[in-house]
Amino acid sequence: MSSDALTNQFIAKQNTLLICAEASNGLLMQQTLVASGLHLNIALLDESDQVIPALLQARHDLVLIDADSKAIDCERLVRAIRAHFSAIELPVLISHDPSALDKRNAALAAGANDGLSKPIDRDEAALKINQCLTLGRFYHSNKVIQDILEEEIKTRTAKLDMLIESCLMMSMEKSRSKLLKHILVEGQRLLNCDGGTMYLVTEQNTLSFAERTRDDHLPFEEIALYDPATGQANDVYASTYAALHNETVIIDDVYRETRFDCSGTRDFDARSGYHTVSLLTVPMAPRGGKVIGILQFFNTQSPATGKIISFPPDIIDLVGALAAQAAVALDNLQLVQIQKDTTENIIRIMAEALDSKSPHTGHHCVRVPELAFMLAEAACNESSGPLAAFNFASEDEWFEFRVGAWLHDCGKVTTPEYVIEKATKLDTIYNRIHEIRMRFEVLLRDAEIASLRARLQGEDEKAASARLEQRKAELADDFAFIASCNLGKETMDVTDIARLQTLARQTWRRHFDDRLGLSRDDLLRRQDEAETPLPVDEFLLRDKPYQIIPRKKQQKPTAELGIKMDIPENQYNFGEIYNLSVQRGTLTHEERYKINEHIIETIKMLEQMPFPDSLKRVPEYATTHHETLDGKGYPRKLCASALSVPARIMAIADIFEALTSSDRPYKRPYKLSESLKILHDMKLRRHIDPDLFDLFLTSGTYRKFAELFLEPEQIDDVDIRQFLGSASH
Ligand SMILES: [Fe+2]
Ligand SMILES: [Fe+2]
Repeated sequence: MSSDALTNQFIAKQNTLLICAEASNGLLMQQTLVASGLHLNIALLDESDQVIPALLQARHDLVLIDADSKAIDCERLVRAIRAHFSAIELPVLISHDPSALDKRNAALAAGANDGLSKPIDRDEAALKINQCLTLGRFYHSNKVIQDILEEEIKTRTAKLDMLIESCLMMSMEKSRSKLLKHILVEGQRLLNCDGGTMYLVTEQNTLSFAERTRDDHLPFEEIALYDPATGQANDVYASTYAALHNETVIIDDVYRETRFDCSGTRDFDARSGYHTVSLLTVPMAPRGGKVIGILQFFNTQSPATGKIISFPPDIIDLVGALAAQAAVALDNLQLVQIQKDTTENIIRIMAEALDSKSPHTGHHCVRVPELAFMLAEAACNESSGPLAAFNFASEDEWFEFRVGAWLHDCGKVTTPEYVIEKATKLDTIYNRIHEIRMRFEVLLRDAEIASLRARLQGEDEKAASARLEQRKAELADDFAFIASCNLGKETMDVTDIARLQTLARQTWRRHFDDRLGLSRDDLLRRQDEAETPLPVDEFLLRDKPYQIIPRKKQQKPTAELGIKMDIPENQYNFGEIYNLSVQRGTLTHEERYKINEHIIETIKMLEQMPFPDSLKRVPEYATTHHETLDGKGYPRKLCASALSVPARIMAIADIFEALTSSDRPYKRPYKLSESLKILHDMKLRRHIDPDLFDLFLTSGTYRKFAELFLEPEQIDDVDIRQFLGSASH
């Protein structure tokens, strides 16, 4: 409040005097005072009970009490007045007979300011009354100043509280867009202004619009901080100046501004009909740091009158503090984002590397997350039904799911390529059918040699040739049989296995040492084998002890991992009869385990990672996609209650991608209808979640994924109604 306003407020109060005396004395006193020339509003009371209510009801500047009045207990009345008003706030004078000094003294002791001896002398009365009034005026002017200061402290404390609260909120905010909005709205609140705009400094050294309090669209154009031709600093605009010099710019009236170009603001006014007056531009920079943006506010209003005023300097400091804190919060958020992006990129690269490790896994590690997100989004959108309660409430929860999905098969990095790619039964790192074929070649030549020898020894040529042709035909048929067993396309029945074993017992003669040229490990595995003199007859197909690779103790999962899988005794068995006898597909029991072991490796890798709280569920999301609702999945045989919705989503995404994948040479890709039929069967057997499977169909997620990633010939018409509904049907 200005000093003029203060004086006016004070003068507006007229000096009032309350006289408490018996009527006749009171009138006499009143006349005396009027005669003294004092300009007073005088009220006369003749009963002491009326005094306090009158004083409380309206402001009075002085009380004069006649101590000689019989109806008034002067001392008591003074005490009563002092209980409400101090001697400086409301002075009290006592009039008294010169002989009644005891009454005067008692009144003075009770808090009266002074005494007037009767008969009252006009000049003395005027002097003492003026002194008392001066005292009162001093009190009241101080009181007004004190009230104003208190009000200002209250307002500033409230603004400080607002600033502290705002800074706390900013430090906790994790969404960049919410943070930007928050900074601007809080600045607007602190400044009590119409609105504001935030610009951020770009890598190209421009200011770009980042946020504004108005609802209209943000302009796309950017403001260059330096002249592109000369490289000179662009100090033309308040915004660029504030950003370049890390200085606050206050403009009291944009229409009278001469230092900076305000044409943009004026153009906006002309288009919108708004009238901008005051403008404040504050740089956003952490203390001592680089400017990362600016805040610009317009038209602050007086809280008292609502009129547009200049931005008050004391609040500008607070907005400066807000801007500095905003810069720190934005900087931190950006660092967190960079960290997240880096993490996600490393994980993505790893998934892509896994996919490229084997052409047989195609794009599995990259596509499963895509499908999982689609289904998770569909589940989050459900507002009724069994999935209504499911939601990823924050970007952090989505990120956690994304990371889990990207890592879902990371353990495959330990799976040998030959196992992942095993296209024939005799594959190790090459197809060993050629070794067997070569033995057949030997047998054929042995037959030819035997035939020629027989003829040399005089046997009939015709008979010898006929026997040779028969043997050739036999060998060709036997090899064709073994070669077809090797492909693993047909199921091997008992007859096939019996034939294989019979064929295996044929012999061929080996003349060379089969230990020459072996690796140290191969030799170690054969160290207990007895030496046999050459030449030696070998069986056509081998199942030798050295072809078995035993499982070492450290290759078994520890008990703490909670793995409930049947672990084969040996790590591998490369025996030829053993491999060719595999009844379905190409993988032996040991190799099937080796494939499934990828999930144990995933568990081992992820459960020892020190994930932050926001990523704590990554191991769960990544390692449960082979578990089934019936509790017979692997590797932990988890029951349905232990499988969360995201875990169930991962299972469906993993199976559907594998079924529809078109880049696995050992199988033809299933059509959409065939894949959904298989998934439906799995739903009926309680392998996958029925509600999520239904949602997969009804939300159209299966088709969306198919259109993005499947070959056109795979996408056939599907009547999804046949697959929907209760799993018990
Ligand atoms: Fe897996
Ligand atoms: Fe997978």
